[in-house]
Amino acid sequence: MFTNLEHLGLAVHDLEAATALYTTLLGNTPYKREHVASEAVDTVFFQVGGSKIELLAGTSPDSAITKYLAKKPEGIHHVAFEVADIRAEMARLRAAGFVLLNEEPKQGADNKLVCFVHPKSATGVLVELCQSVPAAANSAG
Ligand code: CO
Repeated sequence: MFTNLEHLGLAVHDLEAATALYTTLLGNTPYKREHVASEAVDTVFFQVGGSKIELLAGTSPDSAITKYLAKKPEGIHHVAFEVADIRAEMARLRAAGFVLLNEEPKQGADNKLVCFVHPKSATGVLVELCQSVPAAANSAG
């Protein structure tokens, strides 16, 4: 079951400039900064009620965000939904014909297991499923 619109992921060129802009826009300071080595991205998170804004900047030419911004302007990169059981949702979506970008859930930012649905399966929107995992389990790998 999808339980919440967890966050919007925004691709940005300049993370410091975007963080300053969103600090002013939202009237709130970020609650977390995190480098995700596996994705070669730096992230900054803002809480907005029950949802979040995730700013993403690539840290290498191989980063999906760097490649995205080589082709497209800054803006909404993905829409993330919290799910109760990511493996169950992945199986359900696969059976319904959706193309998943990863076979197994992977470790994402902010203590989440994540999986992405290809935009061609979802009206041009890159959809992220995410399931919260305890921080201890996260650091244990
Ligand atoms: Co995300």
